[in-house]
Amino acid sequence: MRRALIAGNWKLHGQRQDLQWLEALSSQLGKPPACDIVLCPPATLLSDMVGQAPDWIAVGAQDCSRHGSGAHTGEISAAMLADIGCRYVIVGHSERRADHGETDAVVKAKAEQALAVGLTPIICLGESLQERDAGRADEVCQAQLLASLPDAAASDVIIAYEPIWAIGTGRTASAEQAQDIHQVLRAAFRGQNRDALRILYGGSVKPDNAAALLRQPDIDGALVGGASLDPVSFAAIIDSVG
Ligand code: 13P
Repeated sequence: MRRALIAGNWKLHGQRQDLQWLEALSSQLGKPPACDIVLCPPATLLSDMVGQAPDWIAVGAQDCSRHGSGAHTGEISAAMLADIGCRYVIVGHSERRADHGETDAVVKAKAEQALAVGLTPIICLGESLQERDAGRADEVCQAQLLASLPDAAASDVIIAYEPIWAIGTGRTASAEQAQDIHQVLRAAFRGQNRDALRILYGGSVKPDNAAALLRQPDIDGALVGGASLDPVSFAAIIDSVG
């Protein structure tokens, strides 16, 4: 049985005053969380979040360097993230693939850096609208998975299926569309123990659509963007698990 995981990705939002989100979330939850919870604030808040988060919230970064160390101004290594207490790191988000030209090979290198220091990489992938309309979603996602996965991928990586057309658009994949891709990804996973692999869905997840998505057999959680900024919405999504 895979334990559900709900992750919040704050993207380019959040300053120190927003650390009060932690208390607000705790007070909004209707019951003890029945899932793992990961919060990925911007890099400037990681250390404070690690210090202030209750033990049922793990902290993750939104990116890491593909390099371990060296002359790479502005980069943050996976080891640095582990050093301050992060446990997860998102790699290959479509916004980084688009804005920073990150290829599957770069994403794979980042995921390998993460695993090497004991961080769990959350490897993102997903098709564009043109690719979906051309009937190529399965093929594109499968190819991204195979090219972005570390060679020694075991089930301690997490995959996030985030169709690009559903991110920040308010247009969610239907539960059936998401389940279809998750099933394709699980079947294509060449790491050990594919039944234990957790595959999250991301793209306009909100309190009113979370339960239907999370009921699907191959959807093991959600990577939540906009709705994670609001503790009321994020708590409602967490409460919709199981
Ligand atoms: P939204 O939930 O805002 O669509 O963002 C999804 C996402 O990109 C999470 O990584």
